Amino acid sequence: MNKLVIEGGVKLKGEVTISGAKNAVLPIMAASLLTDDACVIKGVPDLRDTNTMIKILRSLGKGVEFDKGIVTVTALKNTNYVADYKLVSTMRASFCVLGPLLGKLKKAKVSLPGGCVIGVRPVDLHLKGVRALGADISIESGYVLAKADKLKGAYIYLGGVYGSSVLATDNVMMAAVLANGHTIIEAAACEPEVVDLAEFLIKMGAKINGQGTPIIEIEGVGHLHGVVHTIIPDRIEAGTMMLAALITKGDILIKNVLPRHLGVLIDKLEEAGANIVKSNNSIHMRYRKPLNAVNITTLPYPGFPTDMQAQMMSLMSITPGITIITEKIYPDRFMHVSELNRMGAHIQREGPHAIVEGVKALSGAPVMASDLRASASLLLAGLAARGKTSISRIYHLERGYENIEEKLGKLGAKIWREKE
Ligand code: EPZ
Repeated sequence: MNKLVIEGGVKLKGEVTISGAKNAVLPIMAASLLTDDACVIKGVPDLRDTNTMIKILRSLGKGVEFDKGIVTVTALKNTNYVADYKLVSTMRASFCVLGPLLGKLKKAKVSLPGGCVIGVRPVDLHLKGVRALGADISIESGYVLAKADKLKGAYIYLGGVYGSSVLATDNVMMAAVLANGHTIIEAAACEPEVVDLAEFLIKMGAKINGQGTPIIEIEGVGHLHGVVHTIIPDRIEAGTMMLAALITKGDILIKNVLPRHLGVLIDKLEEAGANIVKSNNSIHMRYRKPLNAVNITTLPYPGFPTDMQAQMMSLMSITPGITIITEKIYPDRFMHVSELNRMGAHIQREGPHAIVEGVKALSGAPVMASDLRASASLLLAGLAARGKTSISRIYHLERGYENIEEKLGKLGAKIWREKE
């Protein structure tokens, strides 16, 4: 296995172009199961997760080509409705094939995704939603078996104890678009990636209103056709690059980004004293003066994204003052705390809170990635730290950041791979 090595202390300078959003393209590729026509999806990042979803679509009988950021999905004869454990267990997002399989074939057998280091990751809301549409659900040997003679539109309250659910909203939307009648999803997720999926479905001929708000309304149709669609930019990659500019005291022009998807992060960084210059598809992030500590609480969109919590913790770990980070989506999403402390950070975990006391500087050290965004936080810390940092288990990072070494290297970072 490889590890990533960073010689810290370089001020990153230059331009970087953001890739397509991982969390938009995964459900959108699943949505191609709703038609036998060809679907052309552009702006697809070459990631572990996108390649896993391609394997899953092929296992379900789809033809899939992936070339130069373009995924073309075509129907093959033998449509299969079983999403196998060995693929689903490697990527939780594969559970979002449940809705389209049910919508198109009225049956699905999908492995339960299981938990991961950031939390238990239940699927009760997904099952509540498809049951409300008329599906019979049973759990057998770790699989969800779903079937329905027909699906009927329904009112569904989809809020859980932690608020709205992104992939549950996606699954229910994809099951409802071919159901008979009218569906209302209340407490729907409002993330831009849910909106992008809705736009894709509308282009296929679905009738959807309210995407991006807590109330989504769907009028079932009889058939969905092929489509050409370009994925929105990845707001989490963009946010990570914004913090890379600040943590290294650099100056980065971030291109192919939609500032309107990053409202709360921009607001928080301006509260911390950063100067951010925005255009409609770029953000210029230039370090001007020391930041001040700001408190963070993660919430469903448009609140502070949990997927930026670990990265923000790295920045606050070398910002003078005390920062309280409260994780309301995944209260255990703090695997990065112990690794940052190994680099000299002063962070104390108190239940769903982390108390960060800013230190002058971090020092490079061998650290271990535990999940996708924790690896991003260690990468940021390594870029700022004095000396050399080596990050092992970087397959976590490869799940969600396309060509990250190349992008950072072009900005001046001293970053390379070594054999473990
Ligand atoms: C999506 O996961 C993202 N993944 C996650 O990004 C992201 O952290 C998460 O949304 C929250 O924004 C993709 O889009 C592929 P949820 P998802 O259902 O949909 C609870 C990354 O780093 N919940 O919105 O699986 C759940 O436990 C990944 O890119 C239930 O209780 O997350 C959590 O506390 C990590 N019951 C909260 O809701 C359910 O049935 C929000 O989870 C489903 C979820």
